[in-house]
Amino acid sequence: MYSEKVLDHFNNPRNVGELEHASGVGMVGNAKCGDIMKMYIQVENNIITDVRFKTFGCGAAIATSSMATEMVKGKTLEEALELTNKAVMDALDGLPPAKVHCSVLAEEAIRAAIEDYIKNQKGD
Ligand code: FES
Repeated sequence: MYSEKVLDHFNNPRNVGELEHASGVGMVGNAKCGDIMKMYIQVENNIITDVRFKTFGCGAAIATSSMATEMVKGKTLEEALELTNKAVMDALDGLPPAKVHCSVLAEEAIRAAIEDYIKNQKGD
């Protein structure tokens, strides 16, 4: 069923919460199940220095959000934009096939947060 890593990140999710003065915030929903993920990033000199998430969703979504935050922290925006749901799943030693769609939320939420940051920079 679930790998040890998935269970660990589900039971002890990293970087849960909000950033009060976030540089960018992204919120995405999964049309299949209605679950929602909100991602907050702090950006300094093009680097993601801090990241938090809140996931109103299933265990696989929580575990992938947690792993994704660990993978983008300290990365440049360009590197973070390259993060794929497959890379997050691989880092978790895989997900059951029925749960693959849950991992897409993390990738999309990070992208949305970065897009929000870029928009804020432009002052739109
Ligand atoms: Fe909704 Fe997993 S079932 S994100």
